[in-house]
Amino acid sequence: MSESGTPTDNSRGFFQRYVSPRVVSAVCGCRLCGRQRMKVVPLAEGVVVEIGIGSGHNLPLYDPSRVTAVIGVDPDPVFTSLGASRIAEAQFPVEILTESAEAVSLDTVFADTVVTTYAFCTIPNAAEAMMEVRRILKPSGRLLFCEHGRSDSPRTAALQDRLNPWWKPLAGGCNINRNLVDIISGSGLIIEQCATYVPRFTPEVVGFHYVGSARLQG
Ligand SMILES: C[S@@+](CC[C@H](N)C(=O)[O-])C[C@H]1O[C@@H](n2cnc3c(N)ncnc32)[C@H](O)[C@@H]1O
Repeated sequence: MSESGTPTDNSRGFFQRYVSPRVVSAVCGCRLCGRQRMKVVPLAEGVVVEIGIGSGHNLPLYDPSRVTAVIGVDPDPVFTSLGASRIAEAQFPVEILTESAEAVSLDTVFADTVVTTYAFCTIPNAAEAMMEVRRILKPSGRLLFCEHGRSDSPRTAALQDRLNPWWKPLAGGCNINRNLVDIISGSGLIIEQCATYVPRFTPEVVGFHYVGSARLQG
């Protein structure tokens, strides 16, 4: 493991290195996830930093007339290589930084928009990564998020806590029991809007969504 808890190539087996990114990317590319992404990704503007960009499922959803460039932060080169065609087809410059969201090499006060979709479940130290989001955002900037995590039903949340140790190794490090509101607020960002819901035909235990936006100041 690296210091931030991100698995290094040597510490991961064949399944985690090569199979898991393909399976997770296929799941993330489903229509149901696409409908949730559409609620926030087209709102991004200016210089966009996408945390945990993975295989770039959001790239076709950005509005090219609003976006100047997208910089994707993701430590897993196998995952990002799966997005090569979406990167090539983007109508704006796309740069990939192969690094962890807990320690981003970008300057402070850099991004007009930070986007995160289905990534904060997997980032080993979510609180540290959200502090980095806050650091790189311009004062006028905005965080747009579409994540799944801890249910607001105490019974489901207790079940999520019980299932998480079994689920996580099977799902590429995904945690099903993280409270996104707590993670965002804990960084000092102020939530503007946050819809919490379970999409139709989705098991709540893996499908409790947090979709919205946050800013440095209210
Ligand atoms: C479930 S995938 C989601 C990918 C993409 N955001 C999407 O919406 O399709 C989780 C992503 O988080 C990335 N990730 C894992 N640890 C990370 C870290 N420390 N910093 C940034 N990204 C990380 C993984 O490599 C993977 O691409």
